[in-house]
Amino acid sequence: MSAPEPFDAVDVIRAKRDGGRVPEDALRWMIDAYTRGYVADAQMSAFTMAVLLNGMERDEIRVMTDAMIASGERMSFASLDKPTADKHSTGGVGDKITLPLAPLVAAFGVAVPQLSGRGLGHTGGTLDKLESIPGWRAALSNEEMLAQLADVGAVICAAGTGLAPADKKLYALRDVTGTVEAIPLIASSIMSKKIAEGTDSLVLDVKFGTGAFMKDYARARELAETMVALGADSGVKTTALLTDMNTPLGLAIGNANEVRESVEVLAGGGPSDVVELTVALAREMLALAGQPDADVAGALADGRAMDAWRRMIRAQDGDPDAALPTPRETHAVTASRSGVVTRMDAYDFGLAAWRLGAGRARAQDPVVHAAGIDLLVKPGDAVSEGQTLFTLSADDGARFERALDALDGAFEIGDTAAPREPLVRERISA
Ligand code: URA
Repeated sequence: MSAPEPFDAVDVIRAKRDGGRVPEDALRWMIDAYTRGYVADAQMSAFTMAVLLNGMERDEIRVMTDAMIASGERMSFASLDKPTADKHSTGGVGDKITLPLAPLVAAFGVAVPQLSGRGLGHTGGTLDKLESIPGWRAALSNEEMLAQLADVGAVICAAGTGLAPADKKLYALRDVTGTVEAIPLIASSIMSKKIAEGTDSLVLDVKFGTGAFMKDYARARELAETMVALGADSGVKTTALLTDMNTPLGLAIGNANEVRESVEVLAGGGPSDVVELTVALAREMLALAGQPDADVAGALADGRAMDAWRRMIRAQDGDPDAALPTPRETHAVTASRSGVVTRMDAYDFGLAAWRLGAGRARAQDPVVHAAGIDLLVKPGDAVSEGQTLFTLSADDGARFERALDALDGAFEIGDTAAPREPLVRERISA
C-alpha cells in the first residue's frame, strides 16, 4: 500500500484563495504531487488562479521554483574548464539576438549553453530560425552538448524533456486556464528551467511593449526584479536588461531572413538596433563571467564571432555556406504619402508574419522557413509616396490577405517623428 499523502490539495488552494501564505512543505508537496498526477488538473487550475489573483510572497516564489527544479534532472557544466553564461529573452518580434550572441560570447572563451524553444503565437522560436539552415540539427544528447561546449564553446539546441517537468505540465495547464500572466508563475517557470540547466551566470532580456509578453513597463520591471532575485537565491549570477519591444527588432521578421540578418551582424554589419542589443547583452554576459572589459564590438568586426558561428553550425551538421530557403511569392507594401515613418507596431507585424506561415498555431504544425516580412524602413526614416516600406513573403499568395488585415493600422507616416526612445531602458541587478 502506498504511503498516505501528507497534505490535502484543497487546503493549499484555500490558503492561497484566502490571500494567505502557503507553508513551504505544503507548497513543495503540491508541485511534486501534481507532477506525479496525484493532484488533479482541476485542483492545480484553481491554485494557479488563486496565485494570479492574490500573488505570492518572494519566499513562496523561491520555494515554488525550487520544487519545480527538483521535479527533474539538474545539468552540470562543472567538467568544463571555462565559465558558463546563458541568456534568456522573454520573447519579441524579430528577436534573433541569440543567433549572433552565443558565438560572440563563445569567442571570448566563455561557454554558452543556450537551450531554446520553438515559436508559438506571434513571437518566433530560435530553433525554428536555425532549422532554416540545411542539415542543422536541434536535438543533441547531453554528451554531445558538453562536447560541443568544450570544443566550440557555443551550443543552441532543444531543451531535453528532463529539465523541470513540473513546468511543462503547469505551463500547458496555465495556457488553457487564463493563468499565464501571473508574475510568480512566469518567474518560477523561466527560472526553474534556467537554474536546472546549470549555468554559472544568466542575463535576462525582459521585453516590454506591444510585441512583448509583458505590454506594461511596470510589470516587466517587476518580473525582471523577481527573476534576478530568484537567480541570486540559487547562486546563479543574474542581471536583467529591460528592452523596448514596441517596434520589431531589426529589419527581418521570420526564420530564414532572421538567420540572414544575424549573419550580417556576425560579419560586422546588420541593423543598428540588433547590433546594439547583441553588444549590450554580450557585455553583460562577459562581465558576469569575469571579463568586464572584453572588446565585444571588436570581435564582431574582426571575424572572431563569425568563426565561432561557422563552427557552431557545422558541429550540429548544418552547412553555414548553404543557400537559405527563398519564398515562392512576395508582396510589396508601399507608402501612401511622403513623410516620416512614425510607428511600426511590433505585435501587428509579428501577427502578420505568423499568418504568412513564419509561426505556428499548434505545437505540432510546421513553420514555413522562407515566410515572413522584410522591412525596408524603420520609424524615424523619411519616405516618398510609392516607396516600398516592407515586403511580405509566403509560399502561398493566398496568405497575403489575412497578413495585410493584421497590418491595417500597424504603421503610420506623419510629418515629424518623435525622438527615438532608448532600446535598453534599464538594467536590474541583485
Ligand atoms: N516563458 C516560460 O518559459 N514560462 C512562462 O511562464 C512564460 C514564458
